[in-house]
Amino acid sequence: MSKIVDQPERYFRQFVPKRDELLVELEAEAERETIPISGPVVGELLYILACAVKARRILELGTATGYSAIFLAKACEMFNGCVVTLENDHAMAARAQQNFQTAGIAHLVEIRVKDALEALSQMEEMFDYIFMDIEKQDYIRALPDCERLLVKGGLLVADNVGFKDADAFNRAMSENPAWRSVTLFSFLPLHSPEKDALCLALRR
Ligand SMILES: C[S@@+](CC[C@H](N)C(=O)[O-])C[C@H]1O[C@@H](n2cnc3c(N)ncnc32)[C@H](O)[C@@H]1O
Repeated sequence: MSKIVDQPERYFRQFVPKRDELLVELEAEAERETIPISGPVVGELLYILACAVKARRILELGTATGYSAIFLAKACEMFNGCVVTLENDHAMAARAQQNFQTAGIAHLVEIRVKDALEALSQMEEMFDYIFMDIEKQDYIRALPDCERLLVKGGLLVADNVGFKDADAFNRAMSENPAWRSVTLFSFLPLHSPEKDALCLALRR
């Protein structure tokens, strides 16, 4: 009978995707300053999913220093797309803008310095892909607008749904006929935290 590898966390850590100097620097900075970022495994997953759905319009809720938005922008660049990212902390948004310049993707990303829930309620433009990464108790509140703003066949990715505060969101997702969804509890090296769950959902 086949068995799982010994010390799976140690084993899988060696396969963390390679990334450039800027992303490595942002990871170190996030660790120093306790800024919760998605890290290289989820970053790469975001990139692969955006390529797979050929996303042209991507919406991110929660920019922080722009780490995940860099992965998203690099993916949608291939399809002449763009990223809109919402952040309510002015200082964080300014840091993200600087990082987008350094990454050479500033022309692909629009940061809106606003409360995500308020901004979502006023938005009319449609998206192919939404990445949700704000306060976890707000996921359930953001969900109806994500449902409204995502095209049919569009993808919603919600980070940190292993948090207790995401419980209402997880329950709603598993019951709502507007979505086809799966929740993966995983070991995610350099993610904040390293053991967490992600929700991947397709808008029906
Ligand atoms: C988990 S961090 C985002 C990490 C980023 N997506 C990454 O992976 O690199 C969450 C960010 O969302 C912001 N935020 C939290 N609640 C928000 C809200 N209601 N509207 C806008 N931004 C919010 C916080 O200021 C913080 O910078």
